[in-house]
Amino acid sequence: MSKPSKKFEGDPNTTGHVWDGIEEFDNPMPRWWLWTFYACIIWGIGYVIAYPAWPMINGATAGVLGWSTRANVAAEIEAVNEANAPINAKLEAADLDAIAGDAELGPYATSAGSAVFKTWCAQCHGSGAAGAKGYPNLLDDDWLWGGSMEDIHISVTHGIRNEDSDDARYSEMPAFGRDELLEEGQIDEVVNFVMSLSGEPQDASKVAAGAVVYEENCASCHAEDGTGDRFQGAPNLADAIWLYGGDYATLTQTVSNSRYGVMPAWNTRLTEAQIRAVSAYVHQLGGGE
Ligand code: HEC
Ligand code: HEC
Repeated sequence: MSKPSKKFEGDPNTTGHVWDGIEEFDNPMPRWWLWTFYACIIWGIGYVIAYPAWPMINGATAGVLGWSTRANVAAEIEAVNEANAPINAKLEAADLDAIAGDAELGPYATSAGSAVFKTWCAQCHGSGAAGAKGYPNLLDDDWLWGGSMEDIHISVTHGIRNEDSDDARYSEMPAFGRDELLEEGQIDEVVNFVMSLSGEPQDASKVAAGAVVYEENCASCHAEDGTGDRFQGAPNLADAIWLYGGDYATLTQTVSNSRYGVMPAWNTRLTEAQIRAVSAYVHQLGGGE
């Protein structure tokens, strides 16, 4: 390529770089740009001094203003707690059965309880409280331990068969097969009898013998007619609602090895107001007594 054509009059100087005949003017940065740039640097230094900035091993430098998103959230939570303190105190002092009917406490407990439920209970009982195998449905009126406000409040406060609370609800069904309390044939018979209680298809020839086994081994907890016993958390076996399952294989498994459903105590994690709120929430879901 030939040398670039001669510069026009008034053109700035070139830097001396030439690429393929294209030269580079040596234009100074515009003033406005330069001052903006300096201003950014100064502002940046100021920011680093004032706000959390440099990453350190455990977090960032705090900055002289002491500003922190974490502290802001904590303060907001504190403010909400403070605002709710009077109504929470009222909730804690109220008669359990009076909560639902109270114009102020009823709606507050249900909405606060719904939030507690989603955070602490949904993992086991399902977000809609319909339960799952081993985790009772809290929507229906079939209760293991009872569905009054007082019963629910006790179940939630102390939990069930846990080690956290000495007052936890407790009972234990014997493992009739594993501990050789019954022979296989007897388990087969009693399972067929249990299936007859809720009208499931069963081997009718075994039901009479199963009734005898039931009378001697099961009736003390599940009641003569199979309707269960809430003092012992023994489920109703006659209503076709199953905690673990009502098919032959699952029933055989339950009777042979027993079950031991555990729920944590919540008084170690939740305030009394939260426990009352979530109890009220569960109570109004449909099965409350
Ligand atoms: C780790 C799992 C788990 C969590 C979390 C849990 N539960 Fe439970 N809950 C259970 C189990 C298991 C049972 C049944 C125990 C049994 O077999 O008797 C139960 C039983 C209950 C009962 C008694 C039901 C009845 O029929 O009498 C209530 C009420 C209850 N839970 C409410 C709650 C509430 C409210 C929360 C949240 C604060 C909660 N549960 C959180 C596992 C859980
Ligand atoms: C000491 C009391 C006790 C005795 C005796 C007992 N059970 Fe139970 N049974 C329970 C309890 C408590 C549960 C609930 C266990 C749980 O929730 O973890 C239960 C649960 C069951 C279930 C599960 C029900 C479901 O909804 O899934 C079946 C089935 C059952 N028992 C049958 C029997 C039969 C049959 C016998 C006699 C051979 C028997 N039980 C004897 C206390 C007892």
